[in-house]
Amino acid sequence: MNMVKSDTCIVYYSRSGHSHRLAKNLAKRLHGHLVEIQAPAYQRGIVSYVRAAMDSLRQRDMASRQGLPSVSGCNRVVLCGPVWTSYPAVPLRTFLRTKFKAPSTVGLFLTSGAHSPPQKAFQAAESDLGRPISAKACLPNGVEGTAEESSMVDAFLSDLEGAVRLTSVN
Ligand SMILES: Cc1cc2nc3c(=O)[nH]c(=O)nc-3n(C[C@H](O)[C@H](O)[C@H](O)COP(=O)(O)O)c2cc1C
Repeated sequence: MNMVKSDTCIVYYSRSGHSHRLAKNLAKRLHGHLVEIQAPAYQRGIVSYVRAAMDSLRQRDMASRQGLPSVSGCNRVVLCGPVWTSYPAVPLRTFLRTKFKAPSTVGLFLTSGAHSPPQKAFQAAESDLGRPISAKACLPNGVEGTAEESSMVDAFLSDLEGAVRLTSVN
């Protein structure tokens, strides 16, 4: 595991670049530390594509946990990555299932091809984590770079900040 020390961690997995792009924007807006989940078994090529789809459909974990970062020391974590077969991509689910000594504030920002509504993915992520996620959003690829994306990011960050305030009051 890679050790990371930062107040806000943006933990991302990206197979084809969409989530990496979004994660970089979130890191900039949150002055956060960008940290990647590495999953070479799912990168490039048709075989890895089929493996990704099949593992996701079967709700499996990654075969190896070596590419998972440690986020100990982070006060909040934003997880960013794609939807696969209506679920969060397998590397995100494996990370969530480690319970990663989760800080009180966890956000989830997915990207998708907009083939399916994101609610099923949000539910699966909360089930994997074992508790509600403070801020949730899903950016369709077709919305990248538009005013709609800016509004979505603003709303997501507002939910996340609201969750931080609630946590510090309680
Ligand atoms: C194996 C696989 C399954 C996918 N399943 C879905 C899906 O169920 N619904 C959807 O809207 N998009 C689906 N997509 C599209 C991705 O969610 C979308 O292209 C995403 O932005 C890719 O992010 P990335 O470039 O960071 O990997 C799938 C992509 C892959 C590779």
